[in-house]
Amino acid sequence: MKRVLLPTLAATALLGCSGQAQQLDTTQADPQSNSDVVMPLKTLADQINLAIGAALETGHLEDPQFRETLIREFNQITPENEMKFGYVQPQRGVFDFEKPDQLVDFAEEHDMVVKGHALVWHIQNPKWLEETEWTKDELTKVLEEHIHTVVGHYKGRVLYWDVVNEAFDDQGGFRDTLWYRTLGEDYIEMAFRFAHEADPDAILFYNDYSSEGMTAKSNAIYRHVEMLVERGVPIHGVGTQLHLTADNSIADSSIARNIERISDLGLDMHFTEIDVRIRDNDGAMGLQDQADKYEMLMKLAAYYPEVDMFTTWGIGDRYSWVPHWFNGYGRALMFDENFQEKPAYDAVQSVLIDAVTGNFAYEPMTDLSNAQRYVLPFNAKPLSQARLNADEVVFYPFAFNQLGGKDQRVPDTNVIDGKWAVGYHNNKLIGQVIRQDSKTVVNKSESHENDNVEVFVRLGEQFWQFRSIVGQDFAPIGFPGKATGKWSKDGTTFDFEIAFNEFEDLVGETIGFNIALSDNDGDTATGNRHAQLYPLTGTNIGWQGEEFGELFMNGQNAVVSTIPVSTPPAFKAMKLSAKPAGADSSEWQQGYRYTFAFNQLNQRDMTVDSQDDISGDWTMGHHGNWLYGVVNRQDDKTFTDAQESYENDNIEIFVQRGEGDMYQFRTVVGEDFEPSRYSGETFAQWSADGSQLFFGIEMSEPLKSGEALRWNIALSDNDGEGRKYQLYSVPGSNISYLGEELTKLIAE
Ligand code: XIL
Repeated sequence: MKRVLLPTLAATALLGCSGQAQQLDTTQADPQSNSDVVMPLKTLADQINLAIGAALETGHLEDPQFRETLIREFNQITPENEMKFGYVQPQRGVFDFEKPDQLVDFAEEHDMVVKGHALVWHIQNPKWLEETEWTKDELTKVLEEHIHTVVGHYKGRVLYWDVVNEAFDDQGGFRDTLWYRTLGEDYIEMAFRFAHEADPDAILFYNDYSSEGMTAKSNAIYRHVEMLVERGVPIHGVGTQLHLTADNSIADSSIARNIERISDLGLDMHFTEIDVRIRDNDGAMGLQDQADKYEMLMKLAAYYPEVDMFTTWGIGDRYSWVPHWFNGYGRALMFDENFQEKPAYDAVQSVLIDAVTGNFAYEPMTDLSNAQRYVLPFNAKPLSQARLNADEVVFYPFAFNQLGGKDQRVPDTNVIDGKWAVGYHNNKLIGQVIRQDSKTVVNKSESHENDNVEVFVRLGEQFWQFRSIVGQDFAPIGFPGKATGKWSKDGTTFDFEIAFNEFEDLVGETIGFNIALSDNDGDTATGNRHAQLYPLTGTNIGWQGEEFGELFMNGQNAVVSTIPVSTPPAFKAMKLSAKPAGADSSEWQQGYRYTFAFNQLNQRDMTVDSQDDISGDWTMGHHGNWLYGVVNRQDDKTFTDAQESYENDNIEIFVQRGEGDMYQFRTVVGEDFEPSRYSGETFAQWSADGSQLFFGIEMSEPLKSGEALRWNIALSDNDGEGRKYQLYSVPGSNISYLGEELTKLIAE
């Protein structure tokens, strides 16, 4: 196969006296064409200590094209099926190693590393295992015998093992499997211990899918693995499968953050089963999207030394499992049906070339949870074109009515509802507001009293307020750049663009920012607006250049400034004259009421889908040694039957005082707080219909006026198909339970 030397490479080779050496690093002689060709993936990857592998079956090795490609490009293999329980121990005590032995022999012949897959899983198990009612002791014995025999058989020959596969469900609960039902969560620990006993030198992995980024599942894996590490269980890494779709919108920042936290536990991360499936009716765009995903994954692997294995689930589309398992999808691998390289291959190769030649400038997108703010900056991501693409941005809600005084709740969503997103392209901030409004009013003489959108931007000492009445462009202001806005005919979508003259590219900038959606329904006594909704709490003084949030222009090499450019207003707890009698005690009406608005379970669109019927608000107060609170919750369907308590409809409260520990308090609807290690007294009292909660948390000393607690509060909603929402009053990535991303509550 002849490959042309890339121009950048040729250029590198010409640079300076080390040119020859660099050229040798990425190219090798091709005996057939008598010229240099770019090295295959494995030879490049080897130079950055990355194993690059593929899943396979013995049958595939009989296909000469498969075999040649494998030998040429890869240096690691994972048996796709033939080491699974059902294959290896088809009858109790009868082990069949014929096929996996062939694979291991092949690997040794060709100097390839083997990852054994998978010792414990919930599918592809033999009938005898599935159909017996085991006691705990019996099943423990089965687990031990299987692992001891299989790992023992390959001792010293199979270096890596997927010990436990897919033990968690997508919502972060333990998956209900034959192992879990009888042995409980302990089977995970036992499996690792048995594997280690059988081969103390083997490198042992936990493996799962939909776990690459910061998700409920990866959080659960992280928590569990952390516990195993603390207990000294022999576990050495976490594999993430990466069965992705080409149009999936996973962000590298989220994967990067997950790799970093796993690495902080001293563990490696493997990319174990990569394939990126394309819809059957998608043309060239699908191949390009696919190449982008492969490129992102290889960049992460090249960037993080902790990622030292990159395995695709097959080699070419000829034998891929994808068309059989995912209706309407296929073409998921780097090589096509005929083992020809696809754009994905070229993308992966060029990342490796950059890495080997020292031209690797990649840095993952910044994960904002590292920003150490009590209200995270809003995320503006780079757009591939100078227009807003919903797949490239994050949608945020308009969460608080700053015209409501202390009552900051958004009016009924039938009256006014909206969401917004911004991205950037070069020096242009590009945003969109989507608005549903029962009645559009645009005939008021005071322009701000009309239904409008306002965007507030602050750079250093300067600030600008851009206002656009529904149906009209931004009103002119003394802004040195160009700002334009355009409404859809029906007034539901507003697209805007603000070009900053003094910048070439906004990447890495943090600017003071806020955005407001005003609503006038002509129904107030004064004829003025009844609502001005912002994503932040505040007192509606953005027009004075105050109470801005932050907007971070994310992107490669972007670093959030350590000093906030703006500190948004905090939440407030009122001073109570006594312990309130209950949730409906009149005193609560004097308190601040805040909306639960940001769904931290969806990092692409943090708003609540109106048809899901979940909303709520909270009010806090303090008296004596006690912190009191009330939550109002509207939910069409209360679900409390999940095994994992956090999967149920619940409220969680996170409190950290001064330098003390962070405590998390959870109350499932209808129940008291769950027991925790907190030493003070607590209570949680629900109304019979689950619509109101009154709770109290005793502190060691009274709160001082002006004192700030690190704080968060979340409302979870599950309607029976897994938890869909965990709503907070601030954006974040749902890691408050780790003591991170807490906001601020100030005692009045
Ligand atoms: C798949 C194989 O590719 C298929 O041939 C088989 O029919 C089912 O299993 N997660 C895993 C792999 O850990 O073992 C699965 O492999 C794909 C999903």
